[in-house]
Amino acid sequence: MIFVTGGAGFIGANFVLEWLEQRDEPVLNLDKLTYAGNLHNLESLQGDARHIFVQGDIGDRALLERLLAEHRPRAIINFAAESHVDRTIHGPEDIIQTNVVGTFRLLEAVRQHWQRLAAQEQQAFRFLHVSTDEVYGTLAPDAPAFTETHNVEPNSPYSASKAASDHLVRAWHHTYGLPVLTTNCSNNYGPLHFPEKLIPLMIVNALAGKPLPIYGDGMQVRDWLYVRDHCRAIARVLDAGRLGEVYNIGGWNEKPNIDIAHTVCALLDELRPRADGQSYRQQITYVTDRPGHDRRYAIDAQKIERELGWKPAETFETGIRKTVQWYLDNPEWVAQVQSGSYRDWVAKQYGRVND
Ligand code: NAD
Ligand code: DAU
Repeated sequence: MIFVTGGAGFIGANFVLEWLEQRDEPVLNLDKLTYAGNLHNLESLQGDARHIFVQGDIGDRALLERLLAEHRPRAIINFAAESHVDRTIHGPEDIIQTNVVGTFRLLEAVRQHWQRLAAQEQQAFRFLHVSTDEVYGTLAPDAPAFTETHNVEPNSPYSASKAASDHLVRAWHHTYGLPVLTTNCSNNYGPLHFPEKLIPLMIVNALAGKPLPIYGDGMQVRDWLYVRDHCRAIARVLDAGRLGEVYNIGGWNEKPNIDIAHTVCALLDELRPRADGQSYRQQITYVTDRPGHDRRYAIDAQKIERELGWKPAETFETGIRKTVQWYLDNPEWVAQVQSGSYRDWVAKQYGRVND
């Protein structure tokens, strides 16, 4: 089996769903269920013996040791993190605890487990760390996109914590020989995205008649990738990536934030027009910029394409249309997330979430 951390969050849940749609290999899923963890995301796996869910913290050494000994996974895929830049600006303590200390404890527990394996199992073992393009810092408008050898120059508490975890993973490979892989991906979007992030926030606020807040001048550029494309890239790196290597993953799809807002509004105008006949664009509001806001990210994804044959399957046009349609089709998911009732549902539905 594989051992996924943070598998009740946006990308982790999409990964678990994609994995079990494609393969029969079971998934052990450890998630702390912070505000970002939502077991509703995995509702379709209820009763599926291939999915074992455990509520817990990647920083809990005793729990990790027990799970590793009991389930003997052949690979770890570490998604667990505090992932929201704005939240981590307001309170950076949690990101240090989870993204840095948590990754360290996970690495240590996995290293001890791995060192005790038989030679053949040791060779086949993998630790895949899921990271972000934000570790590379910001790009000038005409600068080439980030390659894997770009300087690491994080500018926010979040990106600094992710860069720190990437460095730990690298060091555990060089010093202890742990068979690691690291992926640095650009901005994801798609179903199950928590509506604190730009795209889902635009969709749910537009439908609720609320303002669509655009930071600063809205000309910050991000490189958007459909979440299932990211999940397939991770699976590909796990299967065939070279040990100790970093793989950048991106959508070749740079867009300023204001264009994203316009695209979402245009799709909603088409699919769910406002009762007053006006465009959702009327709701766009420019607000104070994020402190230290990085101006541009862009990923050069040639290495993963050349070495592993991965390319995104979705274009932005197909991916964003699917995404907007998913939010229109799943108002109860949005309502539960907004009211916080998805957390009560966890207790009711999963009474015993701890292993
Ligand atoms: P998310 O915030 O939606 O989900 C994070 C999950 O981790 C949640 O289910 C949460 O409960 C869990 N978690 C948090 N702290 C934990 C802990 N201490 N122990 C166990 N579980 C814990 O995040 P996401 O957007 O799905 O991102 C997943 C990973 O991908 C993160 O490592 C993030 O840095 C990285 N990433 C995200 C993006 C993006 O665009 N969202 C892009 C590139 C990389
Ligand atoms: O680049 C990868 C990163 O993408 C991941 O590592 C992070 O986990 C993920 O959260 C995301 O970070 P961003 O800060 O780029 O995503 P967010 O959706 O918060 O913001 C996207 C852009 O939109 C950014 O330039 C800030 C802007 N923005 C965001 C929000 C929430 C707005 O203009 N208004 C908003 O209300």
